[in-house]
Amino acid sequence: MPINPRLERLADNPFSKLRELLDPVQPRSNEPALPWAVGEPQHEPPPMLARILAENSHLWNRYPPPPGTPEYRKACAAWLARRYRLPAGMIDAERHVLICDGTKEALFLAPQMAVPPDKNGRVPTVLMPNPYYNVYNGGATLAGAEPVYLDCTKETGFLPDLDAIPEDILARCALFYLCSPANPQGAVADLAYLKEAILLARAYDFVLVVDECYCEIYSDAPPPGALDACAELGGALDQVLVFHSLSKRSSAAGLRCGFVAGDPRLIERFAHLRSYAAPQVPLPVQEVGIALWGDEDHVDENRARYRRKFDIAENLLGGRFGFYRPAGGFFLWLDVEDGEAAARTLWREAAIRVLPGAYTARTNPGCENPGQRYIRVALVHDDATIEAGMRRMLRVL
Ligand SMILES: Cc1ncc(COP(=O)(O)O)c(C=O)c1O
Repeated sequence: MPINPRLERLADNPFSKLRELLDPVQPRSNEPALPWAVGEPQHEPPPMLARILAENSHLWNRYPPPPGTPEYRKACAAWLARRYRLPAGMIDAERHVLICDGTKEALFLAPQMAVPPDKNGRVPTVLMPNPYYNVYNGGATLAGAEPVYLDCTKETGFLPDLDAIPEDILARCALFYLCSPANPQGAVADLAYLKEAILLARAYDFVLVVDECYCEIYSDAPPPGALDACAELGGALDQVLVFHSLSKRSSAAGLRCGFVAGDPRLIERFAHLRSYAAPQVPLPVQEVGIALWGDEDHVDENRARYRRKFDIAENLLGGRFGFYRPAGGFFLWLDVEDGEAAARTLWREAAIRVLPGAYTARTNPGCENPGQRYIRVALVHDDATIEAGMRRMLRVL
């Protein structure tokens, strides 16, 4: 049977690896199992979601416009301008914004748009942080590029070291994925870093994809974004795309609603690609999206609830396992020396499922896997569950 060999080359999904590790292990604890491996928001989405969906039920029989309705795109552009204090007129809803079904699909498709068969006669590279969101690797590999995993360690501030990327890799680069706030470590790229990345993209002629889907969940200051950085560099959006989603901002992962914004030449091509490759976002969902991008109250509440979870974690774990409070996102990235062994112990002795850091990362030749020492813990459950679970963790680790 003919099968695309690129598909066969994809690494196992981190969650299948986790099932392989833990399914044969029977927890000795009778306490309720805690699924802390998966980064799925557990807060209720705001009540307006169900109400607006119902109010627009007469729209289910219509084919939605593939790039998003003008109203949806305007709501996204207005949110970007408010969130990042962008100069008036910098983001034009029609030219710079495109709807997507959550960001997963769009992040996967970006290399299908950007990777040419060769770059200067050689195999193009797609760069990504290591650890990485699995979809980056899938998108790069299926587009025929050579994925390059840039180790993100404590020493690099948990972001790729831009100054250490070899010239040859940059010269062949077609696309570079950055994630800020980063999943899993919660590191935030500052404006200077983002500007440097944009200038690299312009100098070496590649597409900079900035995954900002955790940007509304932060400890202190709102994380800056790549569009901020574009504004500081004079306002042009050349070579830059940012990806945003309602999954985390509005605890609406099941809604499948987000957007891409940036360079109008790329947005036009992306719209062309999506018109073949991606389903339209249903009109009732777009109506909900307009309301959710337009409301900050539910986002402030959401953020405050995540802060309380980190307070609880800090109180109990502070000073152990290299605990730090991430600048953004909702994961703990704990240094337990051997992430796989700790995940097994936590499941066997405390019925807590966490993700070994190594499952989200590659081992580069001659280097240690940058996730090897760590576990990723999703802080998404209610306060009482988190407190009880943290005490269980302390008991067994
Ligand atoms: C880093 C990162 N990017 C993108 C996504 C995709 O989210 P969605 O498709 O729900 O917008 C996720 C989901 O967990 C993620 O962790």
